[in-house]
Formats: sequence, structure tokens, C-alpha cells
Amino acid sequence: MKNFLNIKDIPIRDLKKILSDAKRRKKLRKNLNNLEADKGAPLRGKLLIQMFEKSSLRTRLSFYLAIKQLGGSTLTLRPDELHLTKGGESIQDTAKILSNFGNAFMLRTDSDKKLVEFKKYLSIPIINGLSPSSHPTQILSDIFTVEEIKKKPISSLNIAWVGDSNNVLNSLIAASIKFSFKLRIGCPLKYQPNKKIMRYIKSNKNKIHIINDPKKAVKGADVIFSDKVISMNDKVNKTKKLSQFKKFKINKVLLSLAKKNCIFLHCLPRGKEVEEDVFLSKQSKVWQQALNRVHVQKSILLYCFGKLR
Ligand code: CP
Ligand code: NVA
Repeated sequence: MKNFLNIKDIPIRDLKKILSDAKRRKKLRKNLNNLEADKGAPLRGKLLIQMFEKSSLRTRLSFYLAIKQLGGSTLTLRPDELHLTKGGESIQDTAKILSNFGNAFMLRTDSDKKLVEFKKYLSIPIINGLSPSSHPTQILSDIFTVEEIKKKPISSLNIAWVGDSNNVLNSLIAASIKFSFKLRIGCPLKYQPNKKIMRYIKSNKNKIHIINDPKKAVKGADVIFSDKVISMNDKVNKTKKLSQFKKFKINKVLLSLAKKNCIFLHCLPRGKEVEEDVFLSKQSKVWQQALNRVHVQKSILLYCFGKLR
């Protein structure tokens, strides 16, 4: 049994294994409908319990299809309907019940501590479906999308991030260190990664650069990533923050400064950080990116169940 909590804690060998399994499975499914199981249904009879403390469209749907395509099933819990929050039931007791009734637990949470607490008391795998500090399933899937489109290992590409220093970027930073790819982060000085992340960047190879000028950040990029300036539960003065990101909006001019065949990726949902004509352009691969979550999360599930080939 394995957990999938943060990219930085998972051996690169395992991350690469997940990606190659996803590639193989995606190819084999070409003629199957969404709810038809993969040959052999490797997770037949298994129940994935999902819980969302924050909104979700893609993660919810993609884990639903992922476990179904592996032959299992899923149940989504609403935290406001459990005793855990208002009723005062402990994480320890909740985790015991989850472990007795289910086979894996996917949690989207507003607290990193909760992931650690659940992990302590669960005897089934736990998957981080987004926390305040990371979004690992998203970024592993995005690496899959980049390599699928570029037909090259990500280690040979120049990746740019233009936007806020948030959970998605933290996982991209971890991926840059693990997969050894160049990452240029374009963000306002005031919104650079926090001290802990800066220390993590410095303690590792010198492939990550923080540049407070979006034009310089995208120069020579094969891929430009972005995300909303205001994340869920971001406790800031929104108008002020948005105005400080005006220069960092991804428009056609900025895109033209990257490589000619540069692609645009965004985990979604989008805000005002990208112009419509970029978002809907041929260079934008956001729909393919979103759908790939299903394929990669299937292999993440198999990894957690110790069933990756
Ligand atoms: N990208 C992503 O995780 O989307 P949702 O918040 O809709 O799940
Ligand atoms: N950074 C965003 C990602 C949403 C998928 C958030 O946390 O709201």
C-alpha cells in the first residue's frame, strides 16, 4: 500500500512508472466508452471514498471515471453531512470507519495538517486531491500532457509559469526538481513563493528561476502554465491582488515571445489571468489537459494499491 500525498516524497522511479502505465492504458482504451472497465478490471470490487472540503469539478469527475474504468466504484462524502466537522467526531475515529468500509481515500482539504492526521490513522491509501500547499495529482497529469503533446521527456523542455505562487506552482516546483526540468517563474515580487519553498528551491539543483518580469519568464518557453490569481479560500484583498497581476496577464503578445510552438496549459477553472484569444487558441491545450487527469489518476490509484506493472 502506498500514499500519494506530495510529489517531493515520491521516488522519481515511481512517478515515471505511473506516467508510463497511464500512457499504455490510455492507448488501450481508444474504443471503450467512459464507463467500460479496462481489460482485467484490476480494481474490481474496490471502493474509493472521496471527500471534498472545497469545490471541485474536474478532480471529482476524473476520480469517478478513473476508479470505474479500473472496475471499482466510488462514493463522495460531503464534510457538512459527517459528524467530523460539526458533530465533533475525531479524525481518528472517522479514519477507522473509512478504513473498514473503503479501500482508498481521496481528500481535497483546506488544511495540510488534516492530510497528515488522516494518514496517521488510516490503514488504506490516502490521495491528496488538492491542499493549500499542493496539487500533486494535477501536476503529475500535466507532465503527462506535456510529454504527450511535445513527444519529448519534460527534462528536455523549458517550462514557464506566469501567475500566483500557489499550491499548483508548489507541486510544479517539486516536479521540476524530481524530473529535472527548467522552470522559470514569472510573478510579482510581492507574490513569490514562501520562505519554505524558496529554501527547497535553493537546496536543490539550479534549474528554477524566479523572474519578476513576465516577458523574460516566457522567453524560449515550450510550455506556459498559469492558474487563477485568487485561489479558493485565498484570504486577501482581491481587487488589490488582481491589480498587482495586471502586467502578468497572458495575452497574444506575451505568448508570441515564447517558442513558436509553445503550448498554454491551465489546471482550470480560469479567472482573468488569461485572455480569451489565448485560452481558445490552437496553442491552448487545456481540454486535453483536463481529460488526461482520468488516465493519470488511474495509474496513481494502481500505484497506491501496489498494482502498477
Ligand atoms: N483543476 C482542478 O483540480 O479542477 P477542480 O477544482 O474542478 O477539481
Ligand atoms: N490554485 C487553485 C487551483 C484550483 C484547481 C486553488 O487552489 O483554488
